[in-house]
Amino acid sequence: MALDRGAATPFYLVRSEPIQASLRELESQPFGFPTRHWFSCKTQPAAPVLRWWRGQNRPIEVVSEFEFRAALREGFPATSILVNGPAKHRWLPRVSIPGIRVHFDSMNELKALESQARAHQWKLGLRLRTRGEMDPENPDRPTQFGMDPSEFQVAVRRLQRLGLPLETLSFHLRTNVPSPDFYQAALQEAAEVCEAARFRPRHLDCGGGLPPPHVLMRRGIRYDARMSLQELASMYRRQRHRWPSVEELWLENGRFLFAGSGALAIRVLDIKERGGLRQLICDGGRTLHALISTWEHHELIPLVPRRGTKIRTVVHGPTCMAFDQLAYRQLPKGIRIGDVLIWLEAGAYHLPWETHFCHGLAQVWWEDDAGLQLARDAESFEAYWGRWR
Ligand SMILES: Cc1ncc(COP(=O)(O)O)c(C=O)c1O
Repeated sequence: MALDRGAATPFYLVRSEPIQASLRELESQPFGFPTRHWFSCKTQPAAPVLRWWRGQNRPIEVVSEFEFRAALREGFPATSILVNGPAKHRWLPRVSIPGIRVHFDSMNELKALESQARAHQWKLGLRLRTRGEMDPENPDRPTQFGMDPSEFQVAVRRLQRLGLPLETLSFHLRTNVPSPDFYQAALQEAAEVCEAARFRPRHLDCGGGLPPPHVLMRRGIRYDARMSLQELASMYRRQRHRWPSVEELWLENGRFLFAGSGALAIRVLDIKERGGLRQLICDGGRTLHALISTWEHHELIPLVPRRGTKIRTVVHGPTCMAFDQLAYRQLPKGIRIGDVLIWLEAGAYHLPWETHFCHGLAQVWWEDDAGLQLARDAESFEAYWGRWR
């Protein structure tokens, strides 16, 4: 246990075993295509996770210069790096190496990068924005990603005319896709777009989006309430005949593979009782470590079980923001100052959204077959302040 080894709250604990278990679950599904799972680096950009994934000879998907450089630093070969995301023309030219895979997100990006694509022998894909890809917060507005079908066709023709190796059709619908129907609608639309463009992809990259188990929306419903892996795989099998040229299905699931691999440990520093509420003020919380708690509800368990009636409790972080509420729920009255609380499913979109709001970054512990080790120190004052010139 990390606390016995000197871990100091707040800290994240990340373990390889749950990642392996989720991979096994996904890989046991017969999707009807040979399937390749890419590590969505943005989900959990932590060095030990990259090293572990690399050690399994698995490929990585990156969307920024720093992620790309991290993948190179950790020894991923060029052919195992897929560069995705918008506006890559701003940074990719200064760090590109031969042989990588690049998915163009727009015509402007394609035109800005096509000569480098040739010079560096990139393998190429195009990201399609399917009809269903609307901003979840503003459902009347399309998302900003990928190319609409008409633009997609122009891009296919251009790359074919230039003789560049266009191999992949890619889309990423959104995160926490509610059911297989959404992927099915996207696949049907994508097949029509490919037909119209006379594009026969070798790879079909359907992005990420699978909801992880155990995570609830704030209204208490599981994100995966209507998602079944068996039904998803069966849907892919039914679509197989529409994609005769496809040699591999590519998936980039972040949350599904990684959420369960992490936990956040925080300590209760102060307790207030007011307005019929118990307020636990802790050394970590939403603002610093778990922005995701704004819309997700995860399990929160006291490390040492406490008795007592359960009462309405708010778990606050230490920042001066009323917003800093990791959880609001019934918790045992016996919880006291000094107790450690564990927030689960913290292995996806916690570390990359950690903030520096008046405090330094937390420790990160990593556990794999070789044991438990401190992977990242808590940020020191010197690191926090010393970067100012
Ligand atoms: C292109 C792409 N692939 C994969 C992912 C991973 O998504 P998720 O964590 O929902 O599986 C994302 C997330 O934003 C993405 O933008």
